[in-house]
Order: sequence, then structure tokens, then C-alpha cells
Amino acid sequence: MTDSSPGNGSGAWSGRFSEPVSDLVKRYTASVFFDCRMATQDIRGSLAHAKMLARQGIISAQDLTDIERGMAQIAGEIERDEFQWNLDAEDVHLNIERRLTSLVGDAGKRLHTGRSRNDQVATDIRLWLRDAIDQILALIGGFQKNLLDIAETHAATPLPGHTHLQIAQPVTFGHHLLAYYEMTRRDAERFVDVRRRTNRLPLGAAALAGTSYPIDRESVARELGFDEVCENSLDAVSDRDFAIEFCAAVALTMTHLSRFSEELILWMSPRFGFIDLADRFCTGSSIMPQKKNPDVPELVRGKTGRVNGHLIALLTLMKGQPLAYNKDNQEDKEPLFDAADTLIDTLRIYADMITGIKVKQDNMLAALGLGFATATDLADYLVKKGLPFRDAHEAVALAVRAAEQRGCDLPDFSVAELKACMAHVPGAADKVGDDVHSVLTVEGSLASRNHIGGTAPAQVRAAIARARARLAASN
Ligand code: ARG
Repeated sequence: MTDSSPGNGSGAWSGRFSEPVSDLVKRYTASVFFDCRMATQDIRGSLAHAKMLARQGIISAQDLTDIERGMAQIAGEIERDEFQWNLDAEDVHLNIERRLTSLVGDAGKRLHTGRSRNDQVATDIRLWLRDAIDQILALIGGFQKNLLDIAETHAATPLPGHTHLQIAQPVTFGHHLLAYYEMTRRDAERFVDVRRRTNRLPLGAAALAGTSYPIDRESVARELGFDEVCENSLDAVSDRDFAIEFCAAVALTMTHLSRFSEELILWMSPRFGFIDLADRFCTGSSIMPQKKNPDVPELVRGKTGRVNGHLIALLTLMKGQPLAYNKDNQEDKEPLFDAADTLIDTLRIYADMITGIKVKQDNMLAALGLGFATATDLADYLVKKGLPFRDAHEAVALAVRAAEQRGCDLPDFSVAELKACMAHVPGAADKVGDDVHSVLTVEGSLASRNHIGGTAPAQVRAAIARARARLAASN
């Protein structure tokens, strides 16, 4: 389409202007190259608006029929990739409206009655985001399902649990994975919550103050599946807090997956050797033939930074804007789209990648023998026999020091040797009995943490069952 008006480029307001904008300004102010991905939502919103206008007697039944016919053709053209997007028409809204008018004449020019691009674009974004959230929720569910399957297989597989990246206490690998289930469960809750506030209708706010036509906003909301209408016209066209909340929820989900990635990367390093990742998620080195690099988890970690940037971009975009609509808001789309795209791709890849984790149980168990991982269990044993906890802590610290000097682990000491290590703590040595070795084993340590949220295999299995029931209920 060429610029046919005497005015400055668009034709939508051209009578007011006496000189054209430069090509650079045209390109600078246009959004069609990225907002065209809201075309389906734009058409849906326009059809709902047109039906309402006809119901209210604001346009004729014939106008509505013409608009519907034209929009059906345009939808087909877009679907078949035949639609001619045009920079002169600035954005998705004007491109579609112009095409409509060229197809159906005056009815096309009546579509914009009682509406502005300000409430139109706010409606389109909300429709688009609602769909994206639904897709994300389904993908989180798929990721969780696969995670639970692996956690079940490894409900009793011992893994060194770390604090400060030092071996702390034994946990099961299944329990460790369930930590990520809990994180993504809260992530899903956040998306459900953002969706509630996203799913409100701005249309009817018009440019900023509402409109003088006898519109019926509730019927448009129902038609488009919105839960309610936005109750203040100035707020409806101007705020993008729902998009900011969404980016915050994306940033948190990516942060959780980034932490998981960091662990996969560490575990895959030969220094840990706890897992291997399937080859399809790794690459080699162009110079070092021995390398197998965990590229996908590294990129998840990297892309988390990019998504955090989008959140800050939107917060910054909003903070200085006076009411009501300002063109600044056109800049909301690219960060929003990219945040959603990045998370959607990441979740898809992750759900598949975790099914390809090869667990090296022997290495996990061997590592547990290096960090005195059952020292807390020995202290708890002494406490249960009546020694105050601080004294027990000290007695075990002495035993650990002795083990370190000898180059062995706590279970390698005989009862007599353990007693001897603790001689300097009054009342400690006589608490050590023949049953002490049962608490020094990894299995004993794991099984003893037998309460909700604990790492005992029985608790891990129960947590998996609860998680599965929750997943089934949300489908
Ligand atoms: N392309 C614009 C945006 O994304 C649509 C709204 C334009 N409104 C206006 N008054 N210029 O925000």
C-alpha cells in the first residue's frame, strides 16, 4: 500500500498534517513488524466490538455482515502468509483496518466507531498474553510430570546434599529433584494469579475517557472470554502492570531453571561425575576432542539474564508515564514477546532434557563417603541417649577431626575408637553403644528423616503421590 494522503504518512489522521514524516521517523515509530503477531487477537477483538456496535444499533446489520466477511478474508490471507504488511500503516491495527476498508468499503470505516487504538492495543495484548500463559501452564505441567517420573525412580538413591557447596548430609536424588517440583509449583501458581488480572477487558475505554456511544462493555467481555471489564478508562489504556507481573513470573521460573542448570553443569563435570546428559543437549569443542559441553543448561542460565532484563525494561518503561496512554507503551511488546518465547522454548527443552539424565549412582555414593555426611546423625544419636546437643556437637567434631587425621570416615571407627575420640567431652563416651553403626550408615540416615518434607524414601514417595494428584486435578 502506498501513502495516498496529503498528510504525514498514515492517513488515519492525515488531514491535520502539512508535511510527511521521513522514512526514518516512519520506521522509528512503526510497530507492525513485531505487533503483527497479535493479528489473530486484533481480529477477534474487532469482531466482538463490531457485533456489539450492531447489537446496540450503532452500526447496521449490513455493516456487521460486511465487516465479518472482510475479516474472514483477512484472517485467511494472514494464515496463508499472503497479507501485505505495510510500514505506512504503522501497526497491526491500522494495517488490518485499511485492508478491511479496501475490501468492504464504508463498513470498514465504521469499525473504529467508539474505539481507539489505545483500548484496542491493550485488549490485543491481554488476549495474546492470556494464550501465552495457558501454554506456559501446560508446559510447566509437562515438565513436572517428567520430573516426578525420575524422582520416583530415584526415591531411594543416595546423593550428597550440600550447603556452601560442601558435603552436608545425605539426601535422596528423588528428594533433591522434588525441590524443583516445589519451585515450579509456585511458579505455576504465580501464572494462574497473573492470568486473573490479565483477563479484564480494556475495550470501551476508547482513547482515555470512554465514549459517547451507547456501548455495552459487559457483552464484549463475555464474547471475548474476559472475566470482567477494566473499571477505569484512564487506567485501562495506560497501565501495563499485568505484563510486568508476567515478566516477573517468567524471571522467577527461569531463575529456578537456571539453578537447576547450574547443578546439571556441576554434576556433569568429571569433578562430580554424578550424571551424564544425553548427547543431543551437548556439543563438542572445535579444538579439544575430549570435550562434551552442557550447552543447553548453560544457555538456560544465560537466557535467564536476558529475561531479567525484560522485567527491568518494562518496569522502567512504566515508571515515568503520566496518565493516560503514551507512545512509550508501544515498547512493551518486544520484551513481553521475547520473555514468553524464551520461557516456552526453555520449558519445552527442559521437559525433554531431564528424561535424558543418566544417573551415576556409584559416584554419588562414593562422594558421600568423603564428607562425614552422617556426623549430624551421630550427634543426634548421642542427644537421644541424653547428652545435651551442644556437647554432642563437640564430641562429634572431635571424632571427625580424628577421622580426618587417620584418613577414614566415621563408620570406619570401632565402638571403642569412637569412645576414645570423645574422651574429652564429659558424659559423651559412655553414650556410644553397639547400636551406633546403624545411624552412621547412609541408609539409616536417610530413613530416619521420616516426616513430611523430609528425605526418607517413604516420604519422597508420598510427596510424589501428592504431586501427581495435584497435577491430575489441574488438567
Ligand atoms: N502501536 C500502538 C501501541 O503499540 C497502538 C496504539 C497507538 N495509539 C496512539 N495513540 N498512537 O501502543
